[in-house]
Amino acid sequence: MLASYNRLITNNANWAKEKLANDPEYFKKLSLRQTPEFLWVGCSDSRVPANEITGTDPGEIFVHRNIANMVVHTDFNFLSVLQYAVEVLHVKHIIVCGHYGCGGVIAAMGRNDTGLVNKWLRNIKEVYEKHHLELEAIEDEKARSNRLVELNVEEQVRNLAKTSIVQKAWKNRTLQIHGWVYGLDTGQIKDLHVMMHEIEDLEPIFRYDNL
Ligand code: CO
Repeated sequence: MLASYNRLITNNANWAKEKLANDPEYFKKLSLRQTPEFLWVGCSDSRVPANEITGTDPGEIFVHRNIANMVVHTDFNFLSVLQYAVEVLHVKHIIVCGHYGCGGVIAAMGRNDTGLVNKWLRNIKEVYEKHHLELEAIEDEKARSNRLVELNVEEQVRNLAKTSIVQKAWKNRTLQIHGWVYGLDTGQIKDLHVMMHEIEDLEPIFRYDNL
């Protein structure tokens, strides 16, 4: 009996064969360089695959995923991805895409100790606290967590704008930061219309003048 993971290898062989049947140069061309227009900051949730839900191909989206699509200013993994995407790949759009029913956001609304994950979820608790009046006015628990998903995306868009990496890019070129939410039960992406594209979109205290 084959182990379940063997299916992945077999699928891969079939997928590669199919790609080559359509274009014998497909992988050769892709291997030479990548010129993605988008940086995707999404949730690690297995149900939200960036390329698949956006109908894009390999090479089109540079991807960073973590629990609840967070932009944490001490996260060197994320900051390295951001710097490379903005300064080397010159992406034109950064998309923060959350999703309704996000387990990370729901866990952050609770009071259970989750071990190491606490430290990560703390960042979401801060977003909750900032908007607790609005959130606590929502009676339905699901609706409340879905609203926090939206507010969290908005906060991460702002967190991106607070980085020197984004602000430096804004001095020289166009770079838009978008906030979206994906519906697990609909398959649809909703644009929250919280786009930021210039330094004036950010509160003065977070602006760097000497970049
Ligand atoms: Co999630």
